[in-house]
Amino acid sequence: MHVFDIVEQGARAAQGPKPCAAVRGMLKALRNRLDEVHEALDFCACARAEDAPDRQIFYRSPNLTMMRICFCPGLRTPPHDHSTWAAILMLSGQERNTFYQRCKSRGLEQTGEIVLEPGSVFRMEVDTIHVAECAGQPAVALHVYGGDLDQLPRRVWHPHTLEEFPMEMERYEEFSRLASAACGPPGSAQPAALPA
Ligand SMILES: [Fe+2]
Repeated sequence: MHVFDIVEQGARAAQGPKPCAAVRGMLKALRNRLDEVHEALDFCACARAEDAPDRQIFYRSPNLTMMRICFCPGLRTPPHDHSTWAAILMLSGQERNTFYQRCKSRGLEQTGEIVLEPGSVFRMEVDTIHVAECAGQPAVALHVYGGDLDQLPRRVWHPHTLEEFPMEMERYEEFSRLASAACGPPGSAQPAALPA
């Protein structure tokens, strides 16, 4: 398998009348070839992945973004949305996703969590708000989004105050550092550690 096989399958699925369902079906079909997908996407792995979530877009168009994401142990995102549907195929390791909804009193409240294992295929809706983090071994996954992700009007929340902001990459990276330094995702039983 080569990266262009994955791009071709994803782009074809996204052209249909039900792109999210078609992409999800495509990812399910790849579950039996996890090692091949892993190897095909290894070319874009970053050598400094231990410092920050390694987020490598290998295909983007107005209706589709395909990305390899790796979370090494200790790395966590701030709460954020995508402003479009998303589908994930877990390739290796474990990724915990914690979900939120808007809450008048505290900005956000937790609604649940799921731990993705190799072979898991998971769908997120347009309005999903989540935190993703490594939950064991380095978590490597193929992420597919129904739009040109970095051009969409997305939101990100401060991991301590849960104040809502427009998504900007510099802000996201700063909030990721704060989120990774905390003991757990916002609203978890383990209180988030405030920076000194
Ligand atoms: Fe996300």
